[in-house]
Amino acid sequence: MTEEAPEAPAPAPCPHVQVMSPYDAVSSLDAIKALPEGTVPLKLDWNESTIPPSPRVIEAIQAFLRNTHHLNWYPDLGATRLRGALSRYTGVPADGIIVTNGSDDALDLLCRTFLGASDDAVVVWPTYGHFLIFARARGVEPRPVAPADPFDVPAAALLDAIRPDTKLVYIASPNNPTGVVTPAGDVGRLCRAHPRTLFVLDEAYHEFGGTSAAPLVPATPNLVVTRTFSKCFGIAGLRVGYLLGAPAVLGHLSKLYNPKSVNVLGQVGAFAALADRETREGYVKDVREGQAALAEYLERRGAEVRTTQANFLLVRVPRPKRFTSALESAGVFVRDRSHLKGFDGWVRITAGTAEQMRDLARRMDALLAAEPDLLGWPPSGSDREGERAGARGGGTGSGSGSGTG
Ligand SMILES: Cc1ncc(COP(=O)(O)O)c(C=O)c1O
Repeated sequence: MTEEAPEAPAPAPCPHVQVMSPYDAVSSLDAIKALPEGTVPLKLDWNESTIPPSPRVIEAIQAFLRNTHHLNWYPDLGATRLRGALSRYTGVPADGIIVTNGSDDALDLLCRTFLGASDDAVVVWPTYGHFLIFARARGVEPRPVAPADPFDVPAAALLDAIRPDTKLVYIASPNNPTGVVTPAGDVGRLCRAHPRTLFVLDEAYHEFGGTSAAPLVPATPNLVVTRTFSKCFGIAGLRVGYLLGAPAVLGHLSKLYNPKSVNVLGQVGAFAALADRETREGYVKDVREGQAALAEYLERRGAEVRTTQANFLLVRVPRPKRFTSALESAGVFVRDRSHLKGFDGWVRITAGTAEQMRDLARRMDALLAAEPDLLGWPPSGSDREGERAGARGGGTGSGSGSGTG
């Protein structure tokens, strides 16, 4: 008889990781694969571009791949050509730019470099959820600062909340999920009022609204702006982002930065996407029209809607889970954000082209014919889904089950 070895305890992570919930990646890709043949998916859940990138991106990658021997080499560690193009695009000198593996990687690098356990960090609430994970990985639970109304500009609330010892303040502008823009004037005032605090302005969506605090970067040593190629440039799958900051801040970041992290195809694709201004501007215009048309469609049917200067809008519905699953049955994937504290009833819909939004309206017409009360806020008593405990509870509702995209 063999004796069974006692089960060895699993290796333990750091204490602050032990208390975190596993990241619950809510992806629609499996559901999209399972759609009946002939159903064209409308993937409107992660705010990616809804059309393929510029043909120049594909051509540049194909041309690169024909020259295959370069795939066995590491990428250009300085991303020199891309940084040069980004310098022309942003107006920030190339030595003030770091290219990263998506802008998530830039946020992670900032947290790893500037946050240590027991540091004070502040976020505008509600916020982009993945930033919280990067802060928590450093043992920091950011203090959420919520303006009285989640759709208010947060500058006054931030001025009250930031302490002399606050290490880092994270503001997404336009914010995800609210779409609120923090004007560059407010950003500048906050930076001047708290010169020892690092302000991280996440401008993932800035091309859709056109406003930016990037011009402040060269003269503001405590401001970093992060950006991405995942939205209007249409290459989320290639994972390219970048950050803009003063050389002193970049000097610290470069101590932990992994220069191999932006792969060759990402560098080639991002360079080509940046060069095709016409495609980018055409898409942004199309999305603006699509968003306005969708908002009008929803409002005409009695829904409460918030348009944004990003590529998404928000609609407030009485039964968010029912609403999202009804859309899913029609091949439309959107994002329920109603579990977030203070965000009761809100669902986020990525805005696509005007044609895609007309397609969405046709599909919604069919759903509303069968279930007219899918839209409409405030809900009547019987309408309310008894499933929004997170939205009314004490926490931020950002834990397991919520996803962060
Ligand atoms: C505010 C914000 N920042 C960053 C990201 C992530 O972008 P990337 O794909 O560049 O990592 C997202 C994605 O949805 C976002 O909404």
